[in-house]
Amino acid sequence: MKDISAVILVGGEGTRLRPLTLHTPKALVPVVNKPLLSYIIEWFKYQHIYNLIFSVCYQPDKLKSVFGSGSKYGVHINYIVEKEPLGTGGAIKKAERFFKNTTIVINGDVLFDLDLASMLNYHRSKKSKITIALTPVEDPTAYGLVKIDKSGRIIGFLEKPTWDEVGRQRNINAGVYIIEPSILKYIKPNKICSLERNIFPELLLKKESFYGFVAKSMYWIDLGTHEKYRQAHQDILEGKLTNTKYFKKFYVNNVAIGVGTKLSKKTELYGPVVIGENCKIENKVTLNEFTVIGNRCHIAENVYLERCIIWDDVIIESGARLTGCIIGKNSHIGSHSSISDGVVLGDNNRIQPYSYL
Ligand code: GDD
Ligand code: MG
Repeated sequence: MKDISAVILVGGEGTRLRPLTLHTPKALVPVVNKPLLSYIIEWFKYQHIYNLIFSVCYQPDKLKSVFGSGSKYGVHINYIVEKEPLGTGGAIKKAERFFKNTTIVINGDVLFDLDLASMLNYHRSKKSKITIALTPVEDPTAYGLVKIDKSGRIIGFLEKPTWDEVGRQRNINAGVYIIEPSILKYIKPNKICSLERNIFPELLLKKESFYGFVAKSMYWIDLGTHEKYRQAHQDILEGKLTNTKYFKKFYVNNVAIGVGTKLSKKTELYGPVVIGENCKIENKVTLNEFTVIGNRCHIAENVYLERCIIWDDVIIESGARLTGCIIGKNSHIGSHSSISDGVVLGDNNRIQPYSYL
């Protein structure tokens, strides 16, 4: 695997995750206190792939300042920056010089534990030019629906199909591709182009060797929406992701507490709960299951949190009660406020005491 490179598409704006993505590119959105993209890097390392190309567009400097050359993560990262988004196909074409031989391309907003070696064996055994990892879902309308024949050959690809177009097959494009460089001849340079809407239909017309690999019992989630973002937290805390060091059950007795965090003896913890570094948790705070608190947060007396995702540098004043919500970094929640399920606050919010959201 060492000679294989991987292109990671991280140029999207993450519009459906707003307001979380207003100041933070989706790739840097924290997932259990680690940037989303760091999970993907860990996965590549686990597969012995160290040469990564980040295809970026939106807020590229923020990504560079976190991941740099990759040395901190034990990988080598090259960056390709688009001025304007070129679409998934255009972005891949822009990375053409890195396609020296078989190359992996992935969407940078998915979490999964795919066995890449099996997929690669499959790709080679079929003499495929491009192979897509497939995963079954109940509702394929938010994804790319892929129809295959008995041999695994792709016979239909429909991006965001309507229910009328969905038949019995429910396999969707999981956003992981193995691509032979010859496929790039179908994409024009410096033109906006969607891999899913423009190139895949053309490959079908041209009868290219185009296969789907149905990964057996793979964990997979696309973090495109608030609901999925919350779901990913719950899944990770339940240990559903298994194959990188972050994905292992990393907490003791269902609770992980970061370095420098001070807890009052009277804090009540009902895990799974994760607390970041250098936080202060005061008397009689209750942290109930599936709560994740970022770094440098201050949680005052008598606060109750359940299924909450709290980003870094948040202050929650005494007596506040928060359930099932997401609070962006550097926000301040006034005392005795009540914030309920589904609320998503972006960064730097100031909520007055006794607010009811
Ligand atoms: N560099 C670059 N330039 N990257 C882009 C661009 C672009 O213009 N547009 C999108 N991307 C990146 C996004 O950042 C994301 O990581 C990935 O490409 C996919 O784009 P999304 O906008 O998240 O697409 P989607 O989730 O609606 O659908 C895609 O992913 C599904 C699986 O998660 C499609 O590939 C579907 O077919 C697929 O099922
Ligand atoms: Mg997506």
